[in-house]
Amino acid sequence: MSERLYSPSAGRNSGPISDVLSERIVPKAKVLEIASGTGEHAVAVCQKRTDIIWQPSDPDAKSRRSQDAWRSACPGQILPSIPISMTEFEWWATIGDINAIYCANMIHIAPWEAALGLAEGAGQLLQSGQSLFLYGPFLEGESTAQSNLDFDQSLQFRNSTWGVRSLDSVKHIFADMGFNLEARIEMPAENLLLVFSKA
Ligand SMILES: C[S@@+](CC[C@H](N)C(=O)[O-])C[C@H]1O[C@@H](n2cnc3c(N)ncnc32)[C@H](O)[C@@H]1O
Repeated sequence: MSERLYSPSAGRNSGPISDVLSERIVPKAKVLEIASGTGEHAVAVCQKRTDIIWQPSDPDAKSRRSQDAWRSACPGQILPSIPISMTEFEWWATIGDINAIYCANMIHIAPWEAALGLAEGAGQLLQSGQSLFLYGPFLEGESTAQSNLDFDQSLQFRNSTWGVRSLDSVKHIFADMGFNLEARIEMPAENLLLVFSKA
């Protein structure tokens, strides 16, 4: 029986996310996805961009089995998933050459150290002009959507190290690693897709 998992939120956001990524990923890129979850985003993007190679990853074994089960939807494009956690020491050491990084819905559901690890690894792996795409909810001061404030509270209730991150603090940690916020793209359900480019 297939080990493919389906996430209701991925079912809703795969279309809009893949529309943006498929426009912005450079030709013939190798994309590293962090925290791939069910693996559905890889399929949505690769079906729109048959020239790219996608490297999924996740620290969770069941999620990696699902990502591997989705590979047959895009023959030759999606590599076997690899176990990476953003809080592991020098997680980037074994990755090799990539052209872009994509990460969705991870930094609010992991300790802040995971966001720091993502920024540091991106700084190590990406070259000048290459991009990291970061999708999810963010706090933006007084203009923060009530739904994201409520989500932040519920996350902190579940785990005191989790929480919706402020856009300013995320910009700051990426700036420290040499990235500029090139684009802030509003997505459905009060989410953002941020494009950080290495200077
Ligand atoms: C809410 S799911 C998002 C999955 C997928 N990116 C999506 O948007 O549908 C969060 C994912 O983050 C992964 N994750 C949690 N902590 C992590 C860490 N420290 N490093 C990398 N991934 C992590 C989980 O295993 C899970 O697959």
